[in-house]
Amino acid sequence: MLFKLTDEQLMIQNMVREFSRKVVGATAAERDKTKEFPAENFRQMGELGLMGMMIPEKYGGESADTISYILALSEIAYSCASTSVVMSVQNSIVCESLYKFGTEEQKQKYLVPLASGEMIGAFGLTEPEAGSDPVSQQTTAVKDKDGWIINGIKRFITSGKYSKVVLITAKTDESKGHRGISCFVIPKGTPGLMVGHMEDKMGLRASDTTDLILENCRVPENQMLGKEGDGFKIAMSGLDSGRIGIAAQSYGVAMAAFDAAIKYAKTRKQFGVPIAKHQAIRFQIADMATQIEAAKQLIFSAASMKDRGEPYTKEASIAKLFASEMVNEITARAIQIHGGYGFTKDYDVERYYRDARVFTIYEGTSEIQRIVISNQVLKDKRKP
Ligand code: CAA
Repeated sequence: MLFKLTDEQLMIQNMVREFSRKVVGATAAERDKTKEFPAENFRQMGELGLMGMMIPEKYGGESADTISYILALSEIAYSCASTSVVMSVQNSIVCESLYKFGTEEQKQKYLVPLASGEMIGAFGLTEPEAGSDPVSQQTTAVKDKDGWIINGIKRFITSGKYSKVVLITAKTDESKGHRGISCFVIPKGTPGLMVGHMEDKMGLRASDTTDLILENCRVPENQMLGKEGDGFKIAMSGLDSGRIGIAAQSYGVAMAAFDAAIKYAKTRKQFGVPIAKHQAIRFQIADMATQIEAAKQLIFSAASMKDRGEPYTKEASIAKLFASEMVNEITARAIQIHGGYGFTKDYDVERYYRDARVFTIYEGTSEIQRIVISNQVLKDKRKP
């Protein structure tokens, strides 16, 4: 393999693998049915240092590199995709944005409990009429003498219900386009911030996805994250990191589906032999292994660039695009290998298939990733 893991990275991977398969995986299928949010698992994940991994220890994190983070995240995704999306949003968009743009006071008040896993955070950018195009969002923040008054609706918010603090973007100056969007840190319990409709989804059923309603929600000046007008930049840079996470999540689910398919192919007999003996199945396995390996290399490459402090917007989008498309194909193939049994709820591949479907949609659809990638390629001055 191109990337040789350090002893520390291997140790983190093994530790998370053991925890994930034993604890997270034990209830994943059941939680898919009951939609129960795995609060106790998150408490333990906080103790293991998984909720703010890349944040410095002085702010409650683990000072881990991005490679360690994607190893851990993909191990959690292997057992439960619902758990991994909460971990991904928390680590990247929420904690990293607070670390990069927060004041010392905001870091002490919000980042420390978030990174140490004492509380879950959420990120509110999407709105009913503004998904792929967040600049067209309608939420407004109007200044008065005591701070800001925020009004609007945020939609499809991961951990909307169970989070204790949310990052919310709002228009502070309509005339300035993306430079007129700002970001606010708002703790739950703030009057005017309410949890609205909870989505009933085809997958990721143990992760809550809700509306957040802001009705004359008053926040003081010191709860603005970054400067006035920084909101879009905060969201975009958070999404760069987030997209590596969704790619790692895709890899984890793909590995789970792949392992399940191989196990089944070795035991299921048709025409007198295990189906793994048939070339039709072997070729599928070879194609799956190739796709998964290609995605892994792209994810490691983007993560390494981030760790080296290089620009990685394009590489994060490439990894996200390829890995999220890849996992949709892998989970579909895994069902095909399982035949009729794969279509039943008796086998985990059915859940993997449903969970993976949103990976090409959230944190930027595959179409948006192509826009980001082509923008980056075309503005690259080294190219002819
Ligand atoms: N980092 C920092 N700043 C960035 C940036 C980045 N990666 N990308 C763009 N910007 C800045 C640019 O520098 C520019 O600022 P200036 O003019 O001040 O220089 C500004 O943002 C606008 O840039 P563009 O002109 O490139 O932006 P655009 O409007 O043409 O396109 C887009 C932007 C790529 C389409 C973007 O709107 C986008 O990514 N849309 C998808 C939104 C998305 O992913 N939503 C997911 C919701 S969150 C979620 O799903 C989480 C969850 O719960 C799982």
